[in-house]
Formats: sequence, C-alpha cells, structure tokens
Amino acid sequence: MASIASIGIAILLFSLYSLCEGAQQNNDSRHIRLGSSLSPETHPSSWPSASGQFEFGFYQQGSGFAVGIWLVGVDQNTTVWTANRDDPPLLPSQNNTVKLQLATDGKLVLSSDQGHKKVVIASATNGSVSSASMLDSGNFVLYDETYKVIWESFNHPTDTILGNQTLPAGGQLVSSLSDADRSTGHFHLNMQPDGNLVLYPANSENSPVDAYYASGTNGLLNLHLYLDSTDGSLALINTNSSEVYRVISSGNDDLANNTVYRATVGINGVLRAYSHQMDPKTGKLQAPVIMWYQPNNPCDVKGVCGLNSYCTLNDDQPDCLCLPGSDYADLNRRTMGCLRNNPEPACVAGGKENTTFYDILTMENLVLVDPPDFEARMTMEECKSSCLEDCNCGAALFEQTNCMKQKPPLRYVRRDMQKSNTAFFKVSKLRRSPESKNNGTETKEPFPTNPTTGVIVQILVLTLGLILYSCVSLAISGFYIFKIRILRYKRLTEINGNLGLADEELTMRVFSYNELKRATNGFKQELGKGSFGAVYKGALNRGKKLIAVKRLEKLVEEGEREFRAEMQAIGRTHHKNLVRLLGYSAEDSKRLLVYEYMSNGSLADLLFKAELHPAWDERVRIAVDVARGLLYLHQECKSPIIHCDIKPQNILMDDFWNAKIADFGLAKLLMPDQTRTFTGIRGTRGYLAPEWQKNTPISVKADIYSFGIVLLELVCCRRNLDISVRAEEIVLSTWVYKCFVSKELHKLIVGGEEVNKKSLENMVKVGLWCIQDEPVLRPSMKSVVLMLQGITDISIPPCPTTASM
Ligand SMILES: *[C@@H]1O[C@H](CO)[C@@H](O)[C@H](O)[C@H]1NC(C)=O
Ligand SMILES: *[C@@H]1O[C@H](CO)[C@@H](O)[C@H](O)[C@H]1NC(C)=O
Ligand SMILES: *[C@@H]1O[C@H](CO)[C@@H](O)[C@H](O)[C@H]1NC(C)=O
Ligand SMILES: *[C@@H]1O[C@H](CO)[C@@H](O)[C@H](O)[C@H]1NC(C)=O
Ligand SMILES: *[C@@H]1O[C@H](CO)[C@@H](O)[C@H](O)[C@H]1NC(C)=O
Ligand SMILES: *[C@@H]1O[C@H](CO)[C@@H](O)[C@H](O)[C@H]1NC(C)=O
Ligand SMILES: *[C@@H]1O[C@H](CO)[C@@H](O)[C@H](O)[C@H]1NC(C)=O
Ligand SMILES: *[C@@H]1O[C@H](CO)[C@@H](O)[C@H](O)[C@H]1NC(C)=O
Ligand SMILES: *[C@@H]1O[C@H](CO)[C@@H](O)[C@H](O)[C@H]1NC(C)=O
Repeated sequence: MASIASIGIAILLFSLYSLCEGAQQNNDSRHIRLGSSLSPETHPSSWPSASGQFEFGFYQQGSGFAVGIWLVGVDQNTTVWTANRDDPPLLPSQNNTVKLQLATDGKLVLSSDQGHKKVVIASATNGSVSSASMLDSGNFVLYDETYKVIWESFNHPTDTILGNQTLPAGGQLVSSLSDADRSTGHFHLNMQPDGNLVLYPANSENSPVDAYYASGTNGLLNLHLYLDSTDGSLALINTNSSEVYRVISSGNDDLANNTVYRATVGINGVLRAYSHQMDPKTGKLQAPVIMWYQPNNPCDVKGVCGLNSYCTLNDDQPDCLCLPGSDYADLNRRTMGCLRNNPEPACVAGGKENTTFYDILTMENLVLVDPPDFEARMTMEECKSSCLEDCNCGAALFEQTNCMKQKPPLRYVRRDMQKSNTAFFKVSKLRRSPESKNNGTETKEPFPTNPTTGVIVQILVLTLGLILYSCVSLAISGFYIFKIRILRYKRLTEINGNLGLADEELTMRVFSYNELKRATNGFKQELGKGSFGAVYKGALNRGKKLIAVKRLEKLVEEGEREFRAEMQAIGRTHHKNLVRLLGYSAEDSKRLLVYEYMSNGSLADLLFKAELHPAWDERVRIAVDVARGLLYLHQECKSPIIHCDIKPQNILMDDFWNAKIADFGLAKLLMPDQTRTFTGIRGTRGYLAPEWQKNTPISVKADIYSFGIVLLELVCCRRNLDISVRAEEIVLSTWVYKCFVSKELHKLIVGGEEVNKKSLENMVKVGLWCIQDEPVLRPSMKSVVLMLQGITDISIPPCPTTASM
C-alpha cells in the first residue's frame, strides 16, 4: 500500500485553478475559429498546440481514421485521447468527404458520406462556442466569446491522465482494448467518491475482492486525482482544503519544464506513468521512459487471465495456463480462460461424490484470491479426500494446517513461487480430450492405468445417466445456486477476449541456474569483472531482451532466505537512474543476479577511453542523473541503501544515454550489518572516504565523498589519479582545489572546450564540498541535487583536507 504523505501546499491548488484561468487568458494566434475544418487525407489533418508537442485531429487507426489527441514523438506518436472511442474507425473515402468542422452552430462535428452522416465530437451544453484551441498541456478546449472554457477534453478522459490533469471523484480511466484499437478495454481506474483510488477489472462488481490496487485513502473526502506535472508522481488533492496526498511517488525531482508526464491504464491493466523528455536539440519528445507502475507484478492484475486458468510469468510477461482438469476455451486466445473438462458434479446422497469418477491432481505455489466456500483445519491427506468427496469442491488449497475448498469456476488465480502451499484439483478420469491437452501445466497424466473396455462402457453409461439426472435436477432446483457464478463466468470470458500480452513488463523473477546458463550461452561473453564477480551478457525472450548476468563470488555465508529477502528489497527499488534488477537465481551456493542490459557501457569508458568526451552540458546532465539515483538510494527508498562503491565503472549508460547506478545494495551481502564498524575496507581506492581508514562508522556520507570524486572526474574528463601529468596535477582533488583558490578553473578543462563559467564553478564547488574530510561537512544528496540544478546557492567550500596541501 502506498504510503501517504500529506503535504499541504497551496501551490498545487493554485495550479489547478490557474489551469482554468490560464486557458481563459490564452488568446494567441493558435485560436481555431468557427468554420475551420480538418480532413484526414488532405491538409490540414490536425491542429497542433503552440509547442507542437500535442496535436488534435485525425490519426490512423487500423486501415481507417479516428479523431483524437496525440503526443508527437521523435519516431512514434502516443495517442492520449480518443473521441467517441467505441465508434468504428472512419474508412478512407474516395472523394475525401470525411471532414471535421468547428461548425458555426458551435459544435465540433465529424461529417462523412458527403455530409449525410454527422457525429458530434464535442459540444458545450452551456453557452455558445466561438473558438477552440489545442493547449500545450494536452487539453483541447472550446471557448465561448469571452474566452471562458466551456468544453475540454480533460473532462472526458479515456485511458490516460496527463500532467496537470485532474480526475474528479466519480471519474475513471478505462484501458484500451489493444495497442491498435483504442476502444473500451478490460480494466479501469476509479477515483471513488469515498476517496479511494482503485483499479478493477471491467464488468466486475467493483468489490474489494475484485480490486488489484487501492490507494487506501478511503474516508478522505473531496479528493481529486491529479498527476503532478513537475515530477510525474500521482497525487490526490483535497479540493476543499488543498491538502495533497502523494499516493505514488515518482522518485523524481526533475523540476525542468521540458518533460511531459502521463499515466495510462495499459491494455493488461497495469497503471504506468511515463516521462517523455524533450530533446533540447530538436525540441521533439523522446521515446517514453517508464517511471512507475502498479501493481508491480503483472500477474496481480485480476482478470488478466480468464476463469479456470492461472497467471504465471514467462520471461517477465504474464502468461495464462489452464488449471488441471481444464482446457483452453480458445487455444489462440489464452487469456479467455479454460473450460473444465469434467462433467458437473454427479452427487449421490448427502452431497457426496461418487469418487470412482474422479482423481485429485496437485499443484504447488498457487494463490487463490477468492474467499473460500469452506475452510477448516485438517491434515493434507484429509484435505485431499475432503475435496474429492465433496460435490461442491472443485479445488482445495492446503496451507500449513488449513484446508480451503472452492467451487468451480476459479478466477483470479496466479502462481507465486514464494508461496508454499499445495492445491488439489478434482479432475474427471473421463472425457479428457487428448487433442486439446494442454502441455503448459506441470501436471502428471491423470489417467488410471488401462481400465478394461467393459469398465469403460459401464462407466460411460452410468455417467450419461448421471449427467442427465443432474441436468434435470439442476434445472428444477439447484439452478439458482450456480446462476451467479455462471453469469460471472460469461462476463469474465467476454471481457478477456483478445487481450494481448505483448506489453513489456519487468518484475523480479526467480530464475533457475540452467535457465541463466542457457540465456548466457554457457557464460560465454564476459562483459567485465566487478568487485562482486564477473558479469556476462545474455538474452531472454528468444533473444529479444538483453540482460547482464552477474555471478556473485566471495559472499559472506548467508542463508537462502536472507539472500532472497535482500534481493526482494533491491528489486523494490525503482528509479530511472538505477540499473534495474530483473531477477536472481539462488541454487545451492550459486548466486546469480540478472540486470537489464546497458547498451552504452560505463561512464569510465565514456570519460577515460572514448576518443570524444561528452560535451559539457552532457556531463552536467550525467552528474545530475547520478545524483538523483543516489538521492533515491539514500533518502527516498524504503530503507536507505549505502552504495559503498560509487565510481565511474559502476555508472552505466542506457540506450538513451541516461546514467544509471549499478551494483547498489550488494555491499550488504558482503557486510550484513552496515551500521557496524567495518574491519575490512570495501570500495575502490581513490574513491574511498577517509573514514574508511579511521575505523569510524560508515554512513551515507561515504557515498557523498565518492560522488564528489566522480563529479571532479566528470569536470576534468580524467582519472582521479593520473601519473602521466605534471606532478602538481597528479591528485585530481588537490589540483582542482588549487585552481579553485587561484580562480583558474579554465585550466581544468582540456582541449579548449567552451564551457559555461558559472556552471563550471558550480560543479567544482559541489565537488569540493562533497570531498570534505569531515563527513558532517559534506552536503546531503538532496542538497547536492538542488545545488547542481542551480536551485540553491553554493557557498565557498573550505579546503577539503585538514592536512595542509
Ligand atoms: C483575443 O483576441 C481577439 C482578437 O485577436 C481580441 O479582440 C480580444 O480582445 C482578445 N481577448 C483577450 C482577453 O485578450
Ligand atoms: C506523428 O505526428 C506527426 C504530426 O501529426 C506526423 O507528421 C507524423 O507522421 C506522426 N508519426 C507517426 C509515426 O505516425
Ligand atoms: C464521388 O463523387 C462522385 C461525383 O461527385 C459521385 O458520383 C460518387 O458517388 C462519389 N463517391 C462516393 C463514394 O461518395
Ligand atoms: C450555465 O452557465 C451559467 C452562467 O455561467 C450558470 O449560472 C449555469 O449554472 C450553467 N448551467 C449549467 C447547466 O451548467
Ligand atoms: C501545469 O500548471 C502549472 C501551473 O499553472 C504550469 O506552470 C505548468 O506549466 C503546467 N504544466 C503543464 C505541463 O502544462
Ligand atoms: C469545505 O470546507 C468548508 C469549511 O472549511 C466547509 O464548510 C464545507 O462544507 C466544505 N465543503 C465540502 C463539500 O465538504
Ligand atoms: C522553461 O520554459 C521557459 C519558457 O517556456 C524557458 O524560458 C525556460 O528556459 C525553461 N526552463 C528550463 C529549465 O527548461
Ligand atoms: C460409484 O460408481 C461405481 C461404478 O459404477 C458403483 O459401482 C458404486 O456403487 C458407486 N458408488 C456409490 C457410493 O454410489
Ligand atoms: C506442447 O507440445 C507440443 C508437442 O509435444 C510442443 O511442440 C509444444 O511446444 C508444446 N507447447 C508448450 C507450451 O509446451
């Protein structure tokens, strides 16, 4: 559950109001006058916002067109709103007669068929429209003659909420059907009038058992959902008191105004926030980066798999497999669920099953979310036979000493390897169609061995009789018992129609050793050797997803349980400036960590090896990236993590040249108790804070020191220790301080690069503050970030070492 931080700030409320007011004052040349029109095949087909980042108009959907708003990206546009989303796409006409017009009667009307067919896209119920505008916030608005907003797309959201957009109580976002078809999909995010923000599968009863994410803010009234446009975090704002509750923090304190944030309920039901950063050179938005998502495990999304099937992760992707005793309803659409292949329970007197017809199959590590129909304490054997004999039992889950029986059909089932329990499934010995046999489940062949033909005939005759009997009796008396479930079954089958599962999703996964051996081709390609062991390149998903596998060596002897707990803790850290841990393997003494693959190498390569150093602005950006990652580790994640080994080799660059910190959280594996005074020195020479040698406790300030050294290396594009230069320049920190005191900072920049003087001075000052011998003098990571961004002033740093230089 998201922790709720209440920060009463009037600024945010102000921003809500100024959104409306800003629109009123907006009276620029971008105003769309009455009579203006768009057409999908001729120019213009859209109206852009002033910034060019958003456009309103016709976009391609399938072989036709739809009307909506999209974000213009460098190589891909992202649709954020669709008008009349459930209408079929407009087909291209021979005579170009499809036209969208801001008609003189003040309605935005889509006409096709040479004007015979008209659809209203937007019209104000109150007041008359006199112009329209596509605003830079992504809001398309209609104005009356006094420039008052009388209609806005922000009030009719589809699956996306943008930065600065609010969703009032009672509002909802509904996912799209698929990436290609943006009509109403299967999941929705509700801003409930009771104050709770909840994700549900569509067509469920919206009861707590259907919910798969909730903010837990029920009881707080007058709440509106709000996506903070300054940092992309999801917040609830009390419109009456202006109190703000941050329900999902982005861990990002990017205060720049060149990023567009959005949160979208994905086709698989996961709510994700993305940042689209503007490329300062082209002014275009780059490919989106995922900032946060809920729920963390895509299999936690209820209804992602249909009835009688369970969700399991396959290479990070959710996959739906049939539970024992059932077969896919439609082999090509596995999310549709499965049909039980045994006859309805054929009961003898007293609700007892004739056990001759049934077998019990077992499966482990299942999570059944629905409350059981029957629960009692018993032994595992008793539980098994209890379900076998009970007509109403389709499956029983045995956990410790509890037996929980459930009627079929089962829904919301998922597999969780952390869960130790046993599930029993009652399956028919008969009617198992071999052609639809599902080989995805790990079940044993349920057939009894070679029954004689005579017995089969006998059983068949009897079964048919029993089926007939039970049909009749069901129809007469017991129908109502199943009615609810059958209805529910139908609904869930319907909603799970063509749910694609191709969406990329990353969650922590436990791998087997052999799986990773295969993925790395037998640990063939070594990427490098770190302080914890070698790193190998590998690929998952049939080569589609590159990974880096780290083989841990020299660990403190540690139990499997502690290791897993540690991995889970690291897996919970999500920040765009930290290398993602995708999973791990812990078999016997072999410990392997699986990370996302970072295609552009390390900062060390970039600074010390590359022919061309990154430009100054790039280096400043990298410094801020690293500082943000470190800030998250120190102050923003659940339990603070001291990295202990910050150096350019541990800072990696992703596809988009974002800097990400690697190897965090591992120091703890070597030194289980971080607060204890270490005896052995960890980390790397040259980056070690002086307290490592002094036998004083290590705190986050040790990382600040290492960061300071990295900062100076970034400034000067050289190593901290370099013996190829003049004697006075060998130790970088000494040399930098000397230049700082003598106001000759330009000497630090090699190759005559043009560097902003103020920016250079700031970087150097921050670096010198960070490398103070005295830990208390070093700033916190939060101040470092603020100083680097130029938000706070930086005082003159004293000489870093107390010893004379
Ligand atoms: C908006 O522009 C129109 C025409 O350009 C002008 O007549 C009107 O006064 C302007 N309104 C505001 C509020 O500036
Ligand atoms: C994105 O939108 C722009 C502006 O409407 C358009 O020119 C471009 O073709 C679109 N790109 C894609 C990939 O659809
Ligand atoms: C296209 O225009 C021509 C002549 O204006 C007309 O005869 C024909 O029916 C139109 N076709 C369609 C599909 O509207
Ligand atoms: C229409 O606008 C007027 C004046 O702005 C307001 O008093 C009235 O309540 C509005 N009616 C509706 C239905 O919104
Ligand atoms: C959100 O609103 C604030 C305050 O009105 C404004 O400064 C900011 O530019 C807006 N952001 C976007 C993305 O529109
Ligand atoms: C808003 O707060 C005021 C007092 O602060 C209170 O009188 C009013 O009833 C509140 N409105 C709602 C809708 O709760
Ligand atoms: C923010 O936007 C304003 C104008 O829209 C621009 O002048 C300023 O440089 C931007 N700030 C940053 C940090 O991008
Ligand atoms: C169960 O079915 C078998 C096979 O037909 C039959 O022999 C047996 O009597 C039945 N048992 C009960 C309790 O009805
Ligand atoms: C199912 O079995 C067939 C043939 O034995 C095999 O080709 C296929 O890969 C299997 N499918 C799965 C999901 O294991």
